[in-house]
Amino acid sequence: VTVLTGASPARRASTPAPTARVGMIGAGQLARMTQQAAIALGVELRVLTEDPEAPAVRAGATPVLGRADDPAGLDALAAGCDVVTFDHELVPAGLLAGLARRATVRPSPAAKAMAQDKLHARRTLRGAGLEVPPFAPCDGAAEVAAFAAEHGWPVVVKARSGGYDGRGVWRADDERDAARICREAEAAGVALLVEAHVDIAAELAVLVARTPSGARAAYPVLETHQRDGICIDVVAPAAVSADQAARATRMAVAIADGFDVAGVLAVELFLTGDRLLVNELALRPHNSGHLTIDACPASQFEQHLRALLDWPLGETGLLAPAAAMVNVLGPPDGSDPARRLTHALAVPGARVHLYAKAARPGRKLGHVTALGATADHALDRARAAAAALAGP
Ligand SMILES: Nc1ncnc2c1ncn2[C@@H]1O[C@H](COP(=O)(O)OP(=O)(O)OP(=O)(O)O)[C@@H](O)[C@H]1O
Ligand SMILES: [Mg+2]
Repeated sequence: VTVLTGASPARRASTPAPTARVGMIGAGQLARMTQQAAIALGVELRVLTEDPEAPAVRAGATPVLGRADDPAGLDALAAGCDVVTFDHELVPAGLLAGLARRATVRPSPAAKAMAQDKLHARRTLRGAGLEVPPFAPCDGAAEVAAFAAEHGWPVVVKARSGGYDGRGVWRADDERDAARICREAEAAGVALLVEAHVDIAAELAVLVARTPSGARAAYPVLETHQRDGICIDVVAPAAVSADQAARATRMAVAIADGFDVAGVLAVELFLTGDRLLVNELALRPHNSGHLTIDACPASQFEQHLRALLDWPLGETGLLAPAAAMVNVLGPPDGSDPARRLTHALAVPGARVHLYAKAARPGRKLGHVTALGATADHALDRARAAAAALAGP
């Protein structure tokens, strides 16, 4: 493990100490955008990564070169940090519990473990009185068929953990689909759950920050749009009734309080008819909240730092009537959208964010945000810039 901190003996006595040191496990785009917020607050962000050129390191975060599944790496990250947190979920639960005995880890390993296992999360949320899609554990195709006999086809089969961007989510229309999905999952050693296919009117996300002292601040309800299970764009405010938005927000705040969350919590919700079902939890900044960088006084990344450090939370209202964010995915030809940056910058009002990741088809490489008088207006602008980046 190599620790490349700025605190070398050569540092002059007059060099001011950072306002706080935060350790983050992982150094991808979430860490990169957290570093962007850390700069303004005078916070030193240390990131645990094996890649000395990871996106957050390129943005100036202090690298701690090591592995997230190695106790030595975790200890090297935690040394001298006020708090340790996450950019990804790939830390073995046992190691995390050990780390939490030696350092301040937020959110808590128990809350993290609950959110990371979709079956555990569904059971816990249902037990807390929140509505979730009907679900069952699943050990094979016979259980999927039995579930479908009760709830109807199609059903959705999911990996209990480790999935993202729709990887690990499969729709089964009949027993043949179910048999194939279960066979492939078993071969890959992936544990499954099965759930009812929800007739979704809208997908919403609520971001709420909570401090260890119990202060919380929720952002306006976001509306997310998925294609093939991957988030393609987001608008704020969501096109839902004031009552639906208020209920969604109350649910997210109740989850943050109920699980004693510290930091930013993202709650993904399905609106079906007039009911709100909890889909997923993420105990960290979330793709749906990237527009807060440009659209809110305090971004979700700044808010995450403030919440983790038990500092006063920032304002969360929208700075414009509406805002939109469009993800920039690697185009099918493998080319790098960054090559077309100037075309996107020519779109008035578009705010371009690139993650300094190697281009691969379908990979999230950046996003574009725009503000507007209406959600459609903002979305048109953000889409125009994202299309320019994606290429012809
Ligand atoms: N029960 C369901 N009924 C209908 N559609 C569903 C259901 N579950 C998931 N989906 C669709 O698949 C998408 C991805 O599902 P989910 O959020 O569980 O997976 P994920 O890959 O972990 O997502 P993320 O990238 O947010 O981590 C959802 O946003 C939704 O569009
Ligand atoms: Mg999701």
